[in-house]
Amino acid sequence: MTQTQFTPRVFSGIQPSGNLHLGNYLGALKRFVDMQEEDFETVYCIVDLHAITVWQDPEQLRQKTREVCAGFIASGLDPAKSILFNQSQVPEHAQLAWIFNCVARIGWMQRMTQFKDKAGKNAENASLGLFAYPSLMASDILVYHATHVPVGEDQKQHLELTRDIAAKFNHDYGVDFFPITEPVIGGAAPRVMSLRDGSKKMSSSDASDMSRINLNDDADAIAKKIRKAKTDPEALPSEAAGLEDRPEARNLVRIYSALSGLDVDGVLAEVGGKQFGAFKPMLADLAVEKLSPITTEMDRLLADPAEIDRIMSDGAKRAREITAPILRRTYEIVGMVGA
Ligand code: TRP
Repeated sequence: MTQTQFTPRVFSGIQPSGNLHLGNYLGALKRFVDMQEEDFETVYCIVDLHAITVWQDPEQLRQKTREVCAGFIASGLDPAKSILFNQSQVPEHAQLAWIFNCVARIGWMQRMTQFKDKAGKNAENASLGLFAYPSLMASDILVYHATHVPVGEDQKQHLELTRDIAAKFNHDYGVDFFPITEPVIGGAAPRVMSLRDGSKKMSSSDASDMSRINLNDDADAIAKKIRKAKTDPEALPSEAAGLEDRPEARNLVRIYSALSGLDVDGVLAEVGGKQFGAFKPMLADLAVEKLSPITTEMDRLLADPAEIDRIMSDGAKRAREITAPILRRTYEIVGMVGA
């Protein structure tokens, strides 16, 4: 079978649950915005249908959806260049997910570590949607024939499953219709860790607010959180090798590197030999300098929710120009009758 050529297209999604924090900014928002400048068509989705796989208060969900949209734009996303929208406005995501529910096997879902972690001990009581979550995610990606998907390390297993679903669909129906998507993991984007524990990811669900820098923290809060961040008693090393086995030191240096645009060696050339007492205020100043314009811009955008909704609805319209023909063709392949 000849390999179909697919247009280079990036797709990624962010859940509208919890507060946006520095980890989302460096690991997703900023990174997604940077890809907008490369030779890709870029499609970014606020995955509200995924969010409700665990309980969401409806008013909060609306608010968080608009916040993520504002966060994207405040981070530099150009809604004319990229397609930005919330998932529920493009019904083809859920429609293709149903087809994939009939392609994917129960055993595949049972192996998903995110399901096991999120469902916890009481898996019998988790929603059916949480179990089927990866099938909807595969649909998000494949309903665009996306070729590149930037995600964090923790989403790797979901991307492998997306490839399995595409391959099984192509095989079962004897077609070469869905691309085998490439994960784009990491790259220049650091994995931002908790400020209280360098072995844990920075997360909006961490019980301690001191573990993260939220995009809506003010300058005082940012400075305080960095001042209190866990460290070790040693001075900073002059070379990257000296950060091994020092997860907290490494995290702060990486954050500095990502915010400044210097690589880790460049940062250490500047700050090697300094104590944390001297480095932390530098990091706090840099974080405030880079994040406060984003916070200000997010607040400005959020003051006009109608404008945010208009942007998402325009994005959804453009998204459907891609998804509707792909879903129609999928239905034909599967044998659904329709004009
Ligand atoms: N599961 C992803 C996360 O929790 C969010 C997501 C949903 C996603 N659909 C996607 C990411 C499609 C990439 C592509 O981070």
